[in-house]
Amino acid sequence: MLVSLLALGLAAFASAVPTVEPFERDNPSLDDVYIKHITYAGTGCPTKDSVQNYTSADKQTFTLMFDSFVAQVGPNTGPSDWRKFCQLLVELHYPQGFQYSIAHTEFRGYIDIDPGITGEQEAIFYFSGESAQSNCSTFFTGPQNEDYSQTGNVPLVSVVWSPCGSETALNIESSLALHPATSDPNASGQITTDSVDTRIQYIVGLQWKTC
Ligand SMILES: *[C@@H]1O[C@H](CO)[C@@H](O)[C@H](O)[C@H]1NC(C)=O
Ligand SMILES: *[C@@H]1O[C@H](CO)[C@@H](O)[C@H](O)[C@H]1NC(C)=O
Ligand SMILES: *[C@@H]1O[C@H](CO)[C@@H](O)[C@H](O)[C@H]1NC(C)=O
Repeated sequence: MLVSLLALGLAAFASAVPTVEPFERDNPSLDDVYIKHITYAGTGCPTKDSVQNYTSADKQTFTLMFDSFVAQVGPNTGPSDWRKFCQLLVELHYPQGFQYSIAHTEFRGYIDIDPGITGEQEAIFYFSGESAQSNCSTFFTGPQNEDYSQTGNVPLVSVVWSPCGSETALNIESSLALHPATSDPNASGQITTDSVDTRIQYIVGLQWKTC
């Protein structure tokens, strides 16, 4: 259930980050890490209450939960049903002297698609003001009918760290898309919330280091 992200650093990051050595994992004071604010907009998060958040007790992950992020294909649907997106700006509070990056992600939902239908779930991540971005995608091919979770780790070489010296907001552009079956106009399908959690969930795994 984790989706992979990549992150590309500015030159400064790139030169500071060795390609194979593991990162130092320093953990900031637990009480001092929380989501200050989330702003979002898009067809996958259309209202003020579309996105809930949860930060794990160990501050190693935060979860974004979507209650109306649903893509559908089939008779009587059109392009605006086939693709949904949500653009989020996540402002994390954390102690001075630390920076963070995304180590891994999980994407959880439910997919039910007829033969011939394909789709993908994608997310692009970057820190505000930084041109480097990382992305992760999962592709689906019908027939498929199950709760699923996709996990991914960010390749060590492409991890982007938040800049030192300021709390920089994390941008997440996420989308779900289904493509109608060319051979069968009646084929239908959806990517939707899973049966257990009743929400689409993105779990974002963090790693920390000192500046
Ligand atoms: C995160 O979730 C908590 C608990 O539901 C809520 O009180 C808080 O306002 C949310 N934070 C943001 C930034 O949405
Ligand atoms: C995602 O990353 C891959 C490889 O870095 C790149 O080829 C692709 O264009 C990216 N996709 C988006 C939507 O940015
Ligand atoms: C699609 O469904 C309609 C209504 O059930 C039916 O009349 C039509 O033959 C179907 N088309 C195909 C290609 O199966």
